Amino acid sequence: MNVIRFTDLVAQGKAKGQRVFIRADLNVPQDDAGNITEDTRIRASVPCIQMALDAGAAVMVTSHLGRPTEGEFKPADSLAPVAQRLGELLGREVPLVSNWVDGVAVKPGQVVLLENCRVNKGEKKNNEELAKKMAALCDIFVHDAFGTAHRAEASTYGIAQFARQACAGPLLAAEIDAITKALATPRRPLVAIVAGSKVSTKLTILKALSEKVDGLIVGGGIANTFMLAAGLKIGKSLAEPDLIGEAKAVIEAMKARGAAVPIPEDVVCAKEFKADAVATVKAASDVADDDLILDIGPQTAAKLAAQLKAAGTIVWNGPVGVFEFAAFEGGTRTIAQAIAESSAFSIAGGGDTLAAIAKYGIEKQVGYISTGGGAFLEVLEGKTLPAFEILSRRAA
Ligand code: 3PG
Repeated sequence: MNVIRFTDLVAQGKAKGQRVFIRADLNVPQDDAGNITEDTRIRASVPCIQMALDAGAAVMVTSHLGRPTEGEFKPADSLAPVAQRLGELLGREVPLVSNWVDGVAVKPGQVVLLENCRVNKGEKKNNEELAKKMAALCDIFVHDAFGTAHRAEASTYGIAQFARQACAGPLLAAEIDAITKALATPRRPLVAIVAGSKVSTKLTILKALSEKVDGLIVGGGIANTFMLAAGLKIGKSLAEPDLIGEAKAVIEAMKARGAAVPIPEDVVCAKEFKADAVATVKAASDVADDDLILDIGPQTAAKLAAQLKAAGTIVWNGPVGVFEFAAFEGGTRTIAQAIAESSAFSIAGGGDTLAAIAKYGIEKQVGYISTGGGAFLEVLEGKTLPAFEILSRRAA
């Protein structure tokens, strides 16, 4: 992807004394009291901010938090807890600035956090007037919000159109480099795991990957629909029978390329969806009418683990079972451990996947963990995200 990189501008001394506006994705989960429960995105945003400060820039950072109503600021929408955490990570105070669209006072060597950008009227619809005002605040616009790279909003897209210079921050660049490495020039075999409750939400991803990967492992409700497509019974398990035809098409597309979608040989069933439900391992051909499939069975998990260990590249999105319940976590745990032990370059993304990675403590053994949820999925779909489209136009 041909974009200007902030790292290069800094190396060329072009950020010194400049007003640098960094759009980060600091949209982190919070508990009811507003405490941050998981700060990966804040930590991932620090290198860009630190780089700008070290380069002697006057640094403005903003992000959205949640989905507030534009023009109606409420205390729960505030980035105050983020400013606090960012300050701890940077080892300096990070003042939080409200009502910043018409002007920001910040000097070289200083950093300020601009309050939740989605409170500004016109942000979501990429209002041109708003985008131009934001662009006027800076000399260099740095897009470092990979998690929001699939949105074309005033602080992610319009500002990039109108700023004097627009470039990709190190996180945005690292994300696209890692995904490109995994999908465009993969070490083979390339194995993807696409799991989740519905085929419908990931159909475009399944189709796009079926043209590229050597193995396409499906899990969760998605696997149930594929089991139906393979002529197996799934009892009362979650599935989308109207998408059996689409599942068959994916299986056929893979077959035609000499690749495969492994269908579970055994499964873990329960009679009800409960953490303490009795778990029974069954052959995939023995699922009863009143069964719920809540995980892949140990035989299937072992086979998939062997496939993952022999892979050259692994793309992981979605746990293969109800891993939140101890009795139904075996499949996801085995997959996670196989990814950790594999010498393959692995890339993982999506909220549930990150939770599984954290649960099994394999963060350090995954090649690249994406900070993107929806953005990661859209890249897997083969889409060019608005962030990269506008940044490459600005680099032309
Ligand atoms: C996310 O959490 O996936 C990103 O921050 C994007 O948030 P959005 O879906 O509200 O645009």
